[in-house]
Amino acid sequence: MNEFDDPRLVAVYDTINAYDPGTQPDFYAALAAEVGATIIVDVGCGTGLITRRLAGEGYRMLAVDPSPPMIDVARRRPVDGSIEWLVGDVSQVGRGVADMAFMSGHVAQFFLDDQDWARALAALHAALRPRGWLAFESRNPSARQWLRWTADSTGLVFDPVAGPIETWSEFHRIDGDVVAYTNHYAFVATGDELLSPNRLRFRTADQLTGSLASAGFEVRAMYGDWDRRPVADDARELIVVAQRS
Ligand SMILES: C[S@@+](CC[C@H](N)C(=O)[O-])C[C@H]1O[C@@H](n2cnc3c(N)ncnc32)[C@H](O)[C@@H]1O
Repeated sequence: MNEFDDPRLVAVYDTINAYDPGTQPDFYAALAAEVGATIIVDVGCGTGLITRRLAGEGYRMLAVDPSPPMIDVARRRPVDGSIEWLVGDVSQVGRGVADMAFMSGHVAQFFLDDQDWARALAALHAALRPRGWLAFESRNPSARQWLRWTADSTGLVFDPVAGPIETWSEFHRIDGDVVAYTNHYAFVATGDELLSPNRLRFRTADQLTGSLASAGFEVRAMYGDWDRRPVADDARELIVVAQRS
Protein backbone atom coordinates (compact mmCIF):
# COMPACT_ATOMS: atom_id res chain seq x y z
CA MET A 1 0.00 0.00 0.00
CA ASN A 2 1.32 3.48 -0.77
CA GLU A 3 0.65 6.98 0.52
CA PHE A 4 -2.24 7.53 -1.91
CA ASP A 5 -4.10 4.38 -0.83
CA ASP A 6 -3.37 4.01 2.90
CA PRO A 7 -6.19 5.88 4.70
CA ARG A 8 -3.84 6.86 7.57
CA LEU A 9 -1.47 8.58 5.13
CA VAL A 10 -4.24 10.03 2.96
CA ALA A 11 -5.67 11.65 6.14
CA VAL A 12 -2.43 13.61 6.69
CA TYR A 13 -1.65 14.23 3.00
CA ASP A 14 -2.60 17.93 3.05
CA THR A 15 -0.44 18.62 6.11
CA ILE A 16 2.60 16.93 4.64
CA ASN A 17 2.20 18.26 1.12
CA ALA A 18 1.04 21.84 1.76
CA TYR A 19 2.38 24.00 -1.07
CA ASP A 20 4.59 27.04 -0.41
CA PRO A 21 3.50 30.39 -1.87
CA GLY A 22 4.89 30.94 -5.36
CA THR A 23 4.86 27.25 -6.32
CA GLN A 24 2.33 24.98 -8.09
CA PRO A 25 -1.01 26.58 -7.02
CA ASP A 26 0.12 30.10 -7.93
CA PHE A 27 1.73 28.94 -11.18
CA TYR A 28 -1.29 26.99 -12.48
CA ALA A 29 -3.73 29.73 -11.36
CA ALA A 30 -1.69 32.38 -13.20
CA LEU A 31 -1.51 30.18 -16.30
CA ALA A 32 -5.28 29.58 -16.28
CA ALA A 33 -5.84 33.33 -16.27
CA GLU A 34 -3.26 33.93 -19.01
CA VAL A 35 -4.75 31.37 -21.41
CA GLY A 36 -8.33 32.45 -20.64
CA ALA A 37 -9.39 29.02 -19.39
CA THR A 38 -12.99 28.38 -18.33
CA ILE A 39 -13.20 24.60 -17.86
CA ILE A 40 -10.09 22.88 -16.44
CA VAL A 41 -9.19 19.21 -15.96
CA ASP A 42 -6.98 18.39 -12.95
CA VAL A 43 -5.41 14.97 -13.57
CA GLY A 44 -4.17 13.19 -10.44
CA CYS A 45 -5.99 15.82 -8.38
CA GLY A 46 -5.39 13.93 -5.13
CA THR A 47 -7.20 15.59 -2.22
CA GLY A 48 -7.83 18.66 -4.37
CA LEU A 49 -5.27 21.08 -2.91
CA ILE A 50 -5.06 22.98 -6.21
CA THR A 51 -8.50 22.02 -7.56
CA ARG A 52 -10.25 23.94 -4.76
CA ARG A 53 -8.03 27.00 -5.26
CA LEU A 54 -8.98 27.19 -8.97
CA ALA A 55 -12.67 26.48 -8.30
CA GLY A 56 -12.58 29.38 -5.83
CA GLU A 57 -11.29 31.61 -8.63
CA GLY A 58 -14.34 30.79 -10.76
CA TYR A 59 -13.07 28.00 -13.06
CA ARG A 60 -15.27 24.96 -13.60
CA MET A 61 -13.15 22.01 -12.46
CA LEU A 62 -13.18 18.37 -13.59
CA ALA A 63 -10.92 16.52 -11.16
CA VAL A 64 -9.84 12.93 -11.64
CA ASP A 65 -7.64 10.58 -9.62
CA PRO A 66 -7.27 6.78 -9.61
CA SER A 67 -7.16 6.58 -5.79
CA PRO A 68 -10.60 6.23 -4.11
CA PRO A 69 -9.28 7.31 -0.65
CA MET A 70 -7.79 10.53 -2.09
CA ILE A 71 -11.08 11.39 -3.83
CA ASP A 72 -13.04 10.52 -0.64
CA VAL A 73 -11.01 13.10 1.29
CA ALA A 74 -11.37 15.62 -1.56
CA ARG A 75 -15.17 15.21 -1.58
CA ARG A 76 -15.40 15.85 2.17
CA ARG A 77 -13.56 19.20 2.07
CA PRO A 78 -15.67 22.38 1.75
CA VAL A 79 -15.70 23.82 -1.78
CA ASP A 80 -16.38 27.33 -2.97
CA GLY A 81 -17.24 26.84 -6.66
CA SER A 82 -17.83 24.01 -9.15
CA ILE A 83 -15.89 20.74 -8.96
CA GLU A 84 -16.81 17.35 -10.41
CA TRP A 85 -14.73 14.64 -8.67
CA LEU A 86 -14.09 11.42 -10.62
CA VAL A 87 -12.28 8.24 -9.58
CA GLY A 88 -10.33 6.87 -12.53
CA ASP A 89 -8.32 8.21 -15.43
CA VAL A 90 -8.64 11.18 -17.73
CA SER A 91 -10.61 9.29 -20.40
CA GLN A 92 -13.59 9.58 -18.03
CA VAL A 93 -13.94 13.34 -18.33
CA GLY A 94 -15.30 13.14 -21.89
CA ARG A 95 -14.08 14.47 -25.25
CA GLY A 96 -13.44 18.09 -26.14
CA VAL A 97 -14.75 19.31 -22.81
CA ALA A 98 -11.95 21.52 -21.43
CA ASP A 99 -9.74 24.38 -22.54
CA MET A 100 -6.95 23.59 -20.06
CA ALA A 101 -5.65 20.50 -18.26
CA PHE A 102 -2.86 20.21 -15.73
CA MET A 103 -1.06 17.63 -13.60
CA SER A 104 0.46 18.91 -10.37
CA GLY A 105 2.55 17.22 -7.69
CA HIS A 106 4.75 15.49 -10.30
CA VAL A 107 1.87 13.21 -11.34
CA ALA A 108 3.46 12.84 -14.80
CA GLN A 109 6.30 10.84 -13.23
CA PHE A 110 3.92 8.09 -12.06
CA PHE A 111 3.40 7.06 -15.71
CA LEU A 112 6.38 4.73 -15.72
CA ASP A 113 6.35 3.18 -19.15
CA ASP A 114 6.11 4.86 -22.52
CA GLN A 115 2.83 3.16 -23.43
CA ASP A 116 1.02 4.40 -20.30
CA TRP A 117 2.40 7.90 -20.83
CA ALA A 118 1.37 7.91 -24.51
CA ARG A 119 -2.13 6.69 -23.53
CA ALA A 120 -2.44 9.44 -20.91
CA LEU A 121 -1.36 12.11 -23.41
CA ALA A 122 -3.79 10.77 -26.01
CA ALA A 123 -6.62 10.92 -23.45
CA LEU A 124 -5.61 14.48 -22.51
CA HIS A 125 -5.60 15.45 -26.20
CA ALA A 126 -9.11 14.02 -26.53
CA ALA A 127 -10.37 15.77 -23.38
CA LEU A 128 -9.18 19.19 -24.58
CA ARG A 129 -10.77 21.43 -27.17
CA PRO A 130 -8.65 22.34 -30.24
CA ARG A 131 -5.86 24.76 -29.16
CA GLY A 132 -6.48 23.78 -25.52
CA TRP A 133 -3.59 23.97 -23.04
CA LEU A 134 -1.79 21.25 -21.10
CA ALA A 135 0.66 22.03 -18.28
CA PHE A 136 2.53 19.81 -15.84
CA GLU A 137 5.82 19.48 -14.02
CA SER A 138 8.38 16.68 -13.93
CA ARG A 139 11.58 16.69 -11.84
CA ASN A 140 14.66 17.43 -13.93
CA PRO A 141 16.77 14.24 -14.18
CA SER A 142 20.03 16.16 -14.58
CA ALA A 143 19.61 17.68 -11.07
CA ARG A 144 19.65 14.09 -9.66
CA GLN A 145 17.49 15.03 -6.67
CA TRP A 146 17.22 11.41 -5.58
CA LEU A 147 20.81 11.58 -4.28
CA ARG A 148 19.49 13.85 -1.50
CA TRP A 149 16.72 11.41 -0.53
CA THR A 150 18.37 10.21 2.69
CA ALA A 151 17.54 10.31 6.42
CA ASP A 152 19.58 13.56 6.63
CA SER A 153 16.68 15.28 4.85
CA THR A 154 14.15 14.37 7.59
CA GLY A 155 11.54 17.10 8.12
CA LEU A 156 8.92 17.61 10.83
CA VAL A 157 5.30 18.65 10.21
CA PHE A 158 2.42 19.11 12.69
CA ASP A 159 -0.95 17.65 11.76
CA PRO A 160 -3.92 19.04 13.73
CA VAL A 161 -5.26 15.52 14.37
CA ALA A 162 -2.26 13.17 14.21
CA GLY A 163 0.24 15.55 15.83
CA PRO A 164 3.93 15.71 14.86
CA ILE A 165 5.04 13.56 11.93
CA GLU A 166 8.65 13.08 10.78
CA THR A 167 9.00 12.46 7.05
CA TRP A 168 11.83 11.58 4.74
CA SER A 169 12.44 9.88 1.40
CA GLU A 170 14.83 6.96 1.01
CA PHE A 171 16.42 6.44 -2.40
CA HIS A 172 16.91 2.75 -3.29
CA ARG A 173 18.14 2.50 -6.87
CA ILE A 174 17.84 3.84 -10.37
CA ASP A 175 17.06 1.48 -13.28
CA GLY A 176 17.43 3.39 -16.56
CA ASP A 177 15.44 6.51 -15.76
CA VAL A 178 13.12 4.95 -13.16
CA VAL A 179 13.92 5.73 -9.53
CA ALA A 180 12.75 3.40 -6.75
CA TYR A 181 12.30 5.01 -3.32
CA THR A 182 10.36 4.74 -0.08
CA ASN A 183 8.73 7.62 1.76
CA HIS A 184 8.91 7.26 5.56
CA TYR A 185 6.26 8.70 7.90
CA ALA A 186 7.01 8.47 11.64
CA PHE A 187 4.00 9.42 13.82
CA VAL A 188 5.71 10.74 16.94
CA ALA A 189 2.64 10.48 19.20
CA THR A 190 2.06 6.76 18.58
CA GLY A 191 5.54 5.63 17.57
CA ASP A 192 4.13 4.15 14.33
CA GLU A 193 6.25 4.38 11.21
CA LEU A 194 4.40 3.92 7.93
CA LEU A 195 6.27 3.24 4.70
CA SER A 196 5.23 4.10 1.15
CA PRO A 197 7.36 2.45 -1.54
CA ASN A 198 6.98 3.80 -5.06
CA ARG A 199 8.74 4.45 -8.37
CA LEU A 200 9.09 7.57 -10.50
CA ARG A 201 10.09 8.06 -14.12
CA PHE A 202 12.52 10.91 -14.76
CA ARG A 203 12.08 12.06 -18.38
CA THR A 204 14.42 14.57 -20.01
CA ALA A 205 13.21 17.78 -21.65
CA ASP A 206 13.72 16.17 -25.06
CA GLN A 207 11.77 13.04 -24.08
CA LEU A 208 8.89 15.18 -22.82
CA THR A 209 8.88 17.36 -25.94
CA GLY A 210 9.05 14.31 -28.24
CA SER A 211 6.28 12.41 -26.50
CA LEU A 212 4.06 15.51 -26.53
CA ALA A 213 4.69 16.04 -30.26
CA SER A 214 3.74 12.41 -30.95
CA ALA A 215 0.47 12.98 -29.08
CA GLY A 216 -0.40 16.16 -31.02
CA PHE A 217 0.88 18.81 -28.60
CA GLU A 218 3.38 21.59 -29.23
CA VAL A 219 5.51 22.81 -26.31
CA ARG A 220 5.01 26.59 -25.96
CA ALA A 221 7.22 27.07 -22.88
CA MET A 222 9.40 25.04 -20.53
CA TYR A 223 10.61 26.48 -17.21
CA GLY A 224 13.21 25.32 -14.69
CA ASP A 225 11.32 26.48 -11.60
CA TRP A 226 8.11 28.14 -10.41
CA ASP A 227 9.50 31.65 -10.95
CA ARG A 228 9.64 30.76 -14.69
CA ARG A 229 13.43 30.78 -14.92
CA PRO A 230 14.81 28.98 -17.98
CA VAL A 231 15.68 25.28 -17.82
CA ALA A 232 19.31 24.65 -16.85
CA ASP A 233 21.20 21.48 -15.90
CA ASP A 234 20.82 22.17 -12.19
CA ALA A 235 17.17 23.32 -12.44
CA ARG A 236 14.92 21.32 -10.10
CA GLU A 237 11.93 21.18 -12.42
CA LEU A 238 10.90 20.79 -16.02
CA ILE A 239 7.62 22.73 -16.09
CA VAL A 240 5.90 22.22 -19.41
CA VAL A 241 3.23 24.38 -21.04
CA ALA A 242 1.94 22.82 -24.26
CA GLN A 243 -0.92 23.44 -26.67
CA ARG A 244 -2.88 20.81 -28.55
CA SER A 245 -3.36 20.80 -32.30
C1 LIG B 1 1.75 13.75 -5.21
S1 LIG B 1 0.03 13.46 -5.43
C2 LIG B 1 -0.48 15.00 -6.16
C3 LIG B 1 -1.92 15.31 -5.86
C4 LIG B 1 -2.37 16.69 -6.32
N1 LIG B 1 -2.25 16.84 -7.75
C5 LIG B 1 -1.60 17.78 -5.61
O1 LIG B 1 -0.93 18.55 -6.29
O2 LIG B 1 -1.70 17.86 -4.38
C6 LIG B 1 0.02 12.35 -6.79
C7 LIG B 1 -1.38 11.90 -7.19
O3 LIG B 1 -1.26 11.21 -8.43
C8 LIG B 1 -2.17 10.16 -8.43
N2 LIG B 1 -1.73 9.19 -9.43
C9 LIG B 1 -0.87 8.16 -9.28
N3 LIG B 1 -0.75 7.49 -10.44
C10 LIG B 1 -1.54 8.13 -11.33
C11 LIG B 1 -1.87 7.92 -12.69
N4 LIG B 1 -1.33 6.91 -13.38
N5 LIG B 1 -2.78 8.74 -13.27
C12 LIG B 1 -3.33 9.77 -12.59
N6 LIG B 1 -3.04 10.02 -11.29
C13 LIG B 1 -2.17 9.21 -10.67
C14 LIG B 1 -2.17 9.64 -6.99
O4 LIG B 1 -3.33 8.89 -6.69
C15 LIG B 1 -2.06 10.95 -6.21
O5 LIG B 1 -3.31 11.43 -5.83
